[in-house]
Amino acid sequence: MALSPRGSFITLEGSEGSGKTTAARHLGDWIRSRGEKVTVTREPGGTPLGDEVRRLVLHLRDLSDDLDPRADALLYAASRAQHTARVIQPALERGEHVVCARYLDSSLAYQGVGYGNDLEEMRRLQQFATYGLLPDLTILIDVPVEVGLGRKRPGAWNRFEDTQGVAFFEKVRAAYLDLAAEEPERFRVIDGSGTVGETDALIKR
Ligand code: TMP
Repeated sequence: MALSPRGSFITLEGSEGSGKTTAARHLGDWIRSRGEKVTVTREPGGTPLGDEVRRLVLHLRDLSDDLDPRADALLYAASRAQHTARVIQPALERGEHVVCARYLDSSLAYQGVGYGNDLEEMRRLQQFATYGLLPDLTILIDVPVEVGLGRKRPGAWNRFEDTQGVAFFEKVRAAYLDLAAEEPERFRVIDGSGTVGETDALIKR
C-alpha cells in the first residue's frame, strides 16, 4: 500500500461482520510500525458527540420502530461533520494518516440505498457534512451476507436485522459494490471472507 507523504485518509467500509473495525486497528498498527503517525477512528463515533450518536442509533432507536429515514441520515451526518472538522481534518493537517472504519459511503449504502432516501440528496448531505473531504483510499471489505451475519454474537444484532432481515443486507452489499464500481480510482474491493490474517494481508498488499 502506498501512503501519501501529506497524510493519507483511508476508510474501511463493509456491511455487518465484515471485520472493518479489527482491520482498521491492524492497519493502524502496521502504519505505526513503519514509524509514521496515524489516527485510528470510526463512525459513528470518534468525538463525544459521535459517541452519543452511536449510543442513540444503536440502542435508543430500538425503542421506536418508526424512525424517519431523514432523521436517521441527519444523525449520522451530525456525527460525521463533528468528526471531520474536529478530528480527521486536523490530523491530516498535522501530517498524520487517518484510518477510519466507516465514513460517507456507509450513509450512501445504508441511509440511501438501504433506507430509501434519495441517493443524490444523500450525496449532497455528505458533501455538506464532510466539508467535501473525500478519502484518498476506501477499502471495501466484501463478505457474503450470511458470512457477515454469522460472525455477529447473538444479542449483538441491532434494529436492521430485526426489522429488515437478510434482504436489507443484500441491498447494502450490492450498494457498496456499485459505489466501488463507480469510483474505481478511490475504492479497492477485497474479499473479507477469510481469516483476520488473510484480510490484513490483502489490505497491506
Ligand atoms: P458498526 O456496526 O460498523 O460499528 O456501525 C454501526 C451501525 O451504524 C451499523 O449498523 C451501520 C450503521 N451506520 C449507518 O447506517 N450509516 C452510517 O453512516 C454509519 C457510519 C453507520
